Amino acid sequence: MAATVSDILLTWYDAHARDLPWRAPPGTPAPEPYRVWLSEVMLQQTTVVAVKPYFEAFTARWPTVEALAAAPEEDVMAAWAGLGYYSRARNLVKAARAVAERGGFPQTEVELRELPGLGAYTAAAVAAIAFGERAVVVDANVERVVSRLFAIDEPLPGARKPIRAAADAITPDERAGDFAQAMMDLGSSICTARDPKCLLCPLSQVCKGRELGDPARLPVKAPKKAKPVRQGRAFWIEREGQVWLVRREGKGMLGGMRALPDDGWSARGDGSQEAPVAGEWDRAGLVRHTFSHFALELSVEVQRSAAQPDGAGEWWDVAAIDEAGLPTLFAKAARLVLAG
Ligand code: ADE
Repeated sequence: MAATVSDILLTWYDAHARDLPWRAPPGTPAPEPYRVWLSEVMLQQTTVVAVKPYFEAFTARWPTVEALAAAPEEDVMAAWAGLGYYSRARNLVKAARAVAERGGFPQTEVELRELPGLGAYTAAAVAAIAFGERAVVVDANVERVVSRLFAIDEPLPGARKPIRAAADAITPDERAGDFAQAMMDLGSSICTARDPKCLLCPLSQVCKGRELGDPARLPVKAPKKAKPVRQGRAFWIEREGQVWLVRREGKGMLGGMRALPDDGWSARGDGSQEAPVAGEWDRAGLVRHTFSHFALELSVEVQRSAAQPDGAGEWWDVAAIDEAGLPTLFAKAARLVLAG
């Protein structure tokens, strides 16, 4: 009988699996669900290279889901600073508390899905990788590999359904977790977006996209809309070697994170809030930052020897600004001020 896609891919994975801190080598017992879950949440929209140091820091500081559940949310938010998509960190704490409360991770995709913030992808990935369930795991790498393998040329996002059905058809009953990670490794090292290395690919003989020529054109994507650009102001208020920091409102953009005060650029009304103290502002420059749905041009404005603003906040030593856990946008603003 001809070898199946999963046979070929698992044999390739046995020889070529990446060695990553959240993984167990192929053929060895599964890693702890806590490590699998944490890594999968971190890896959403974030590269392996960016995630590694955060994963190491989190697991050193909070070695178990119970430890994470007991951590103050502010500490977790600060430790997440720089990884982006901060609602992930808020949901991480909620899910950790739910898991600790119920005495451990649920072991099926369906039950995992019920934890706060666990989407279809994460539930499937944890079920397959940590618990060996035959779950169908589809991330952007898998979408690319599958759309090429079966030459699915309907544009994304419409192609999600046929891609999922095709991924389901090739997912094996055994070793579904290794299979998912093999697809991810193939997608990130060989079946890459722009320049697929078909000569090195274990699936080249069975790949429809290759047979038809030009696999790099797949998956077809609907043209991206240009992101709108918003303008805002952030305020660096300094006094005696300290800068005034606030904590952002719970649910909004960068919610729960420590930040410089700003003019409300992220709120729907946009940029209408007054500066937090009166007086003359010096402009340190402009920070550009891209979020998922818009780009921001943030004017960074400085006042030294200022009065304490009204409302909640704290004076933070400027020399220790790296320890404040500022999200990247405000870390860039701080760097701009301190470089000037
Ligand atoms: N991206 C998302 N999950 C991953 C994993 N388990 N291994 C490698 N890359 C990933």
